[in-house]
Amino acid sequence: MKILITGAAGFIGANFVYHLLENRPDWEITALDALTYAGNLENLKSPLEAKQIKFEKVDICDEEDLARVFSSTQFDQVYHFAAESHVDRSILSPNEFVRTNVLGTQNLINNARKYEVSKFIHVSTDEVYGTLGETGRFVEETPLDPSSAYSASKAGSDMLVLAAFRTHGFNAVVTRCTNNYGPYQFPEKLIPLVISNVMEDKKLPLYGDGTNVRSWIYVRDHCEAVLRVGEKGAAGEVYNIGGPLESEVPNKEIMLKILSILGKSEDLIEYVTDRLGHDFRYAVDSSKLKNATDWEPSISLNEGLETTINWYKENTEWWQKIKSGEYMKYYEKNYGDRS
Ligand code: NAD
Ligand code: TYD
Repeated sequence: MKILITGAAGFIGANFVYHLLENRPDWEITALDALTYAGNLENLKSPLEAKQIKFEKVDICDEEDLARVFSSTQFDQVYHFAAESHVDRSILSPNEFVRTNVLGTQNLINNARKYEVSKFIHVSTDEVYGTLGETGRFVEETPLDPSSAYSASKAGSDMLVLAAFRTHGFNAVVTRCTNNYGPYQFPEKLIPLVISNVMEDKKLPLYGDGTNVRSWIYVRDHCEAVLRVGEKGAAGEVYNIGGPLESEVPNKEIMLKILSILGKSEDLIEYVTDRLGHDFRYAVDSSKLKNATDWEPSISLNEGLETTINWYKENTEWWQKIKSGEYMKYYEKNYGDRS
């Protein structure tokens, strides 16, 4: 099986590469990434050095360069992870999200159709459904109602993929997952930001009153779900992917859990101005996926957090390099004084 993974140098894409190397060792993997601020070849260091995967530095908005990659290998499947992925950045610079998430996805669809790829797996997010109140869960039929340029551009990309199925019979599936955490996550997202800040005794910026709820899934559980959808998902279908029930927690509680594991005081928490258009709560019903593929999350929140914290402890160089580079200039400029 020959597969293309887009966004493979990012957080989930890199974890997906490792998941396949362990679970589908005979698959031939081409990893594609534009290496934006969020893409990091360090994430793929060992498989690249061992020549277990091939790497292509390509911007998915460059349709010609994409055609070069598609014409050089007859891919059986495309797993599409590449995206601009951070809500806060989408508030500051939305155009980049429209470019990559909408135009980039259409370019991939065009190439996948032209070069007769057998199946296209589009990795999306539960954020396309907008926000929930205190109760309820998103199902696949929940109307799309995105709140940010990130989620709106992802909703646009989902619709382009599903439109290609309806118009051309394009064999594509869409997955919509809740918030991921785990190794290699860029430290601008809540969990790695909190872990690394606690390790440096820095303040933890908690947006609003800290009651917003996210449902967390350990990244390898997400990877296994995407793989099962790739193997068993039906054309034109959407599958929600959710974490274990106990992993649905308010942001303040996540901070307290991490502080407790690392043995630090809650005085590090600092309440800051809320995010604009901040979705209150996400939670998905993944029974459709369970019925179709027998998938269920296997890693509890406590177990996943321990593993993740240990990874950040053992890989301080990885995140310190990121935090001391360009990213920190962006962070200081935009969030230096949020209180
Ligand atoms: P990430 O930001 O860590 O990685 C994205 C990768 O895409 C980076 O390596 C980046 O260099 C690459 N990329 C960006 N623009 C590109 C372009 N124009 N051409 C080629 N490559 C480009 O994001 P992530 O958290 O790994 O998310 C991966 C996918 O999973 C995204 O599609 C995201 O919407 C989806 N998702 C993420 C989460 C989450 O909690 N992180 C949850 C559900 C769904
Ligand atoms: P984030 O990791 O950015 O993921 P998303 O917005 O896609 O859910 O944020 C997770 C939650 O944590 C979200 O409710 C916003 C909140 N948050 C903070 O309170 N402080 C922070 O510094 C960050 C980055 C997020």
